[in-house]
Amino acid sequence: MFFPIIYKSWKKAQEEKYRDILNLTKSLFNKNNTRRFSVLDIGIGKAWFYYFSKLGFREVVGVDLNEKRVRPRKKEISYILKSFENLVKDKSFMRKKFDVLISIDALNLLDRRKLREFLEKKRFFIYVLAVPLRERQFLKEISNIIETKNKIEKTVGEKEKDFLVICYN
Ligand SMILES: C[S@@+](CC[C@H](N)C(=O)[O-])C[C@H]1O[C@@H](n2cnc3c(N)ncnc32)[C@H](O)[C@@H]1O
Repeated sequence: MFFPIIYKSWKKAQEEKYRDILNLTKSLFNKNNTRRFSVLDIGIGKAWFYYFSKLGFREVVGVDLNEKRVRPRKKEISYILKSFENLVKDKSFMRKKFDVLISIDALNLLDRRKLREFLEKKRFFIYVLAVPLRERQFLKEISNIIETKNKIEKTVGEKEKDFLVICYN
């Protein structure tokens, strides 16, 4: 499915989403404050968001089950190459604290029960979660687990649209 030519056109469609996401997170992520934030990215893939945004976070930990999908690797990112479902069984990982949770086009691929448990147990200050538009109902439901003061819900992207939820306190 992921032939280079498809991957190339997909990257362009992804970048349109990233541009919209960055516009909507301007007040949360800017060059002055991101250095303070540690990020957990579930289903990070090739980390295009971090190349595109040029935001320098203090730490980015990217989770992805597919080693081939994360290449080429960005050196500032630490990768955990295992499935989300296996990772959440790891008690020491579950104790680790992150400021930000980012997941773009991946939450819909995870075990939904495990994802619910994870969001109930683990708290972040900022959540940036996007799924393909057809999965918007799922993301609306799952994001209700998050206790948050502020919530932005928006459709992003052009050629391929996503439903985006940003939560922050
Ligand atoms: C559609 S890609 C999105 C990649 C990236 N977030 C982006 O913005 O381009 C989905 C990614 O989720 C990963 N993935 C799928 N199921 C997963 C799971 N159960 N645990 C961890 N990663 C998973 C895939 O390997 C793939 O890299």
